[in-house]
Amino acid sequence: MEMTKSPTISVAVFDTKPYDREFLEPAFRRAGFEGRWLTPRLGPDTVRLAEGVPAVCVFVNDDVSAPVIHALTAMGVRIVALRCAGFNNVDLVAAGGRLTVVRVPAYSPHAVAEHAAALMLALNRKIHRAWLRTRDNNFSIHGLLGFDLYGKTAGLIGLGQIGRVMAQILLGFGMRVLGHDPQPDVAWAARLGVELTDLERLYAESDVISLHCPLTSETQGLINAAAIARMKRGVMLINTGRGQLIDTRALLAGLKSGRVGAAGLDVYEEEERYFFEDFSASGIDDDRLARLTTFPNVLVTSHQAFFTREAMTAIAETTAKNLRQFFDGRPPENEICHRCARTPQPCPRLPVG
Ligand code: NAI
Repeated sequence: MEMTKSPTISVAVFDTKPYDREFLEPAFRRAGFEGRWLTPRLGPDTVRLAEGVPAVCVFVNDDVSAPVIHALTAMGVRIVALRCAGFNNVDLVAAGGRLTVVRVPAYSPHAVAEHAAALMLALNRKIHRAWLRTRDNNFSIHGLLGFDLYGKTAGLIGLGQIGRVMAQILLGFGMRVLGHDPQPDVAWAARLGVELTDLERLYAESDVISLHCPLTSETQGLINAAAIARMKRGVMLINTGRGQLIDTRALLAGLKSGRVGAAGLDVYEEEERYFFEDFSASGIDDDRLARLTTFPNVLVTSHQAFFTREAMTAIAETTAKNLRQFFDGRPPENEICHRCARTPQPCPRLPVG
């Protein structure tokens, strides 16, 4: 990014962890911004921490609801920069016309797909259990039997940026790849040899099913008891999409009965209560999450699929660019339209200029 001669502008950065600052600080500096590094999440009780700055930067679990937006605008804040793709935590209607909202629509589909593949490989070859054993000088391989991925069938639900990278990875293992997407890129699928199909066939034939669709009213609870009943016995489920794609009660029942052979979960339906924080001393009171982590054939990671150097760099650079465009008086290309929620521009409804 080019150096700017404009005066430095302060940005209140909420929910900051040391790793956020490591990537954001240099990108902000190069773009002419200075961070007010705040550890609390944005919400009604913390909004005052943004006093005196024109810009706020938030992440997935910050609360950008109507009361917070009213407080921000009353204090003179003009823009909220999301350092993530999802914006379900923002009341776009309340923001409309008063507060510009920008996001990072894409940072690294490779990061997420590679993590999904990592969960799949680790679960299949029981790497997490082997690691525990050898640390305890237990060199037995009893119970660590896996299967060849080569020649098996993978079912991908969602063939967008991440699903397509996942397909390429799995084809590299020699797997047969089935894909389901309401708006598939038919030419891409034909070129790679991905078989487009309905959910029925995908459930019936897949040895591994990986979720890469967004959370919508249609996909909420997609993997429920009825869906699991239609899958192959012993199926491996991988979810790096959103927690609410899976009905956790149904998953627990499937794991107990053996219908589900393994589950790799980077997301969980109630994750905002726990993920990104350390509860090792206090424990957790969510019985379903606690039960999930007791299964030897379940791997839970804490929404870390995006967490690579490349993705963090892209998030920081795009966030700085979004802010720069706004303060230079240009329409930010990654502005979210408060009426149709479309981004990036051009959105037919967003005012230009
Ligand atoms: P994308 O927008 O490029 O692709 C999503 C695809 O899902 C589209 O092709 C769409 O047509 C398809 N789709 C929509 N409804 C569907 C349905 N009912 N059944 C099957 N497919 C459907 O999104 P991208 O970048 O590939 O991300 C996918 C999801 O991954 C995101 O929505 C997000 O929830 C999740 N994600 C998770 C991250 C993590 O760190 N765990 C990081 C980034 C994204």
